[in-house]
Order: sequence, then C-alpha cells, then structure tokens
Amino acid sequence: MKKRVSVIGAGNVGASLAQMIVHSGIANVVLFDIADGMPQGKALDLSEACPLWGSSSSIIGTNDYSHTEGSDVIVVTAGFPRKPGMSRDDLLHANAKVVSAVVANTAKLSPQAIIIIVTNPMDVMAQVSFKISGFNPERVIGMGGILDSARFRTFIAWEMGVSPEDVEALVLGGHGDLMVPMPRFTTVKGIPITELISKERIDALVERTRHGGAEIVALLKTGSAYYAPAAATYQMVKAIILNEHRLLPCAAYLNGKYRVNGVYTGVPVMLGSKGVENIIELKLNQQERIYFEKSVTAVKSLVDKLNL
Ligand code: APR
Repeated sequence: MKKRVSVIGAGNVGASLAQMIVHSGIANVVLFDIADGMPQGKALDLSEACPLWGSSSSIIGTNDYSHTEGSDVIVVTAGFPRKPGMSRDDLLHANAKVVSAVVANTAKLSPQAIIIIVTNPMDVMAQVSFKISGFNPERVIGMGGILDSARFRTFIAWEMGVSPEDVEALVLGGHGDLMVPMPRFTTVKGIPITELISKERIDALVERTRHGGAEIVALLKTGSAYYAPAAATYQMVKAIILNEHRLLPCAAYLNGKYRVNGVYTGVPVMLGSKGVENIIELKLNQQERIYFEKSVTAVKSLVDKLNL
C-alpha cells in the first residue's frame, strides 16, 4: 500500500506540494484546511489530473482531522504568509497559535509520523511542534535550508551561465535574514565557487540569497513564494517516503552538536524513513561560526518570546 502524506494547509505551498506528490505517484495525500470546500475542490481537481499524469496516487480534501489518521508524514504549511515589508519573524505569534493547534490535532492521530514544518518563522515553529507533539526530535524537522540553498544555486548558475543542476550549495543556520550561505562548501561540479567567482560577486550572491524570500514577496505583493518552497519540501517528503538517506540541509534539533543546545536550526542532515538519521557536523571557520551563532541567537530569542 502507498504511504500516506497529510498536507495541513491547502494554500499556495500546501496545494503545490500536494500536486508534486500526486504527480510523482510516490504517496497518497490528505489535503487538510480550515477553509470550507477549498481543500475538497483542490483535491478533486488533482484527482482528475491523475489519469493524465498516469498516477495511481489518491488524494482527498478535508476539514476533518480524523482523515489524517495513520499518516506516515505530516507536512504543516498552515498559517499566514508574509506581506510586503514583513519579516518571517513578524508572523511569530499568529502562526505559533495555528501550528500548535495543527500539531496537537494531528500528532495524536498519527503517533508514528514524521512531521515536516514549513510555516514561518520555520525554525521556531519546528521547536513549537517538537514541544507540542512530544515526538523524538528526529521525527520533527523543518524545511528551510534546501530552499535557501536552491536560491543560492540558482543565482550562482546565472552568474556563471551554467546549468543549476551542476551547482551544489549549502546554507546553514535559521531560515531568516541571518541565514548563513557557505561559499566554502558550495561547488560547481566539485569546483569550489571561491575558485570561480570573485569574492565581491560571491558576497553579492550571498546577500541576494539572504533576501531571496523578501524579493519574491515584494514582487507578488499578496503573499510569499510557493513553487520553490513546495519543491524543497517535496525533496524531504520523497527522502522519507522512499528511505533515500539523502544529505540535505534541514532544521534539526541540536543538542550538543555545533555547540548548540536545545534549539532547532539549519544543518546538514541525513534524511530517511526514520526522519533525521544523522546530523553532520562541519568544522566552521571563525567567520562562519560568528555568523552561525548570530543566526542561532536570533532563533533562540524568538523561541524565548513564546515562553515554550
Ligand atoms: N488549520 C489549518 N489550516 C489553516 C489554519 C489552521 N488553523 N489557519 C490557516 N490555515 C490555512 C489557510 O486557510 C490557508 O489556506 O493555511 C493556508 C495557508 O495558505 P496561504 O495563505 O496560501 O500561505 P502559503 O503561501 O501556502 O504559506 C504558508 O508557509 O512558506 C510558509 O511563510 C509561509 O507561513 C507561511 C506558510
């Protein structure tokens, strides 16, 4: 039997993710939202696309949590997106309320599930979900680093005129303006970008990556990015469903590694059917460590505001 992925929040990110999962056929989907009729309508539309895609996945839309029972993966995209001028952190209290309710309702119905958090401010929402679910930290993971790295890859590919497929990049730290793109671990077909692009240009691409989300918010005006966020989340879902043991930058619970205790932040992890199988600890140089610690401190200060 196919595995079941519940996508909570059938808005832009949730519906795009549901489309990718159903199109690929790797799992069945339950699409949940509080809006009446909307998840049902989107699920019906996606069901009717399945014959055209040759997909045997099923998808249902619902406002009833009981339909999520027994899920293998729960993806939380419910909440409010950013508007122009807002930072991800401005969403803190409103989204903490939404995510707490969603996780309280879903975790008890799917006690073996892996929870993926997309809702922003994501690292803090992952921490909220870890607390509310009572799950082991390996089974509560945040999506941020894959998206930030994909943005960095795109900008590097454009700079060099190469295919983005040949660019590998790493972004660590919180999924916010203080994220830490890592040029030293960013390569084009194995060649470090520090040998291919001037420091000045790398700095400019790093800066654009840090504000990649805001750049899209400013253009869209009514919400935030969703195609790349959904594609990044899909990579995580696929790694878990197919037990791929992929090495991906995700928000994981750090308890000692990177000299951080009890905080979610973006680091390279191995991802498989059990969730986070391993956290890869890199030796950061002095500058990288300063940036990383700044980013972790920012996450911590938001967590503190919630008095978890
Ligand atoms: N339970 C379930 N769904 C909810 C709840 C709730 N308590 N509150 C809101 N929602 C739903 C809304 O009805 C809406 O359909 O969450 C959905 C959010 O969709 P969008 O507004 O389209 O937002 P989206 O662009 O998908 O972003 C969702 O992901 O990337 C992050 O910053 C982004 O936090 C935001 C989240």
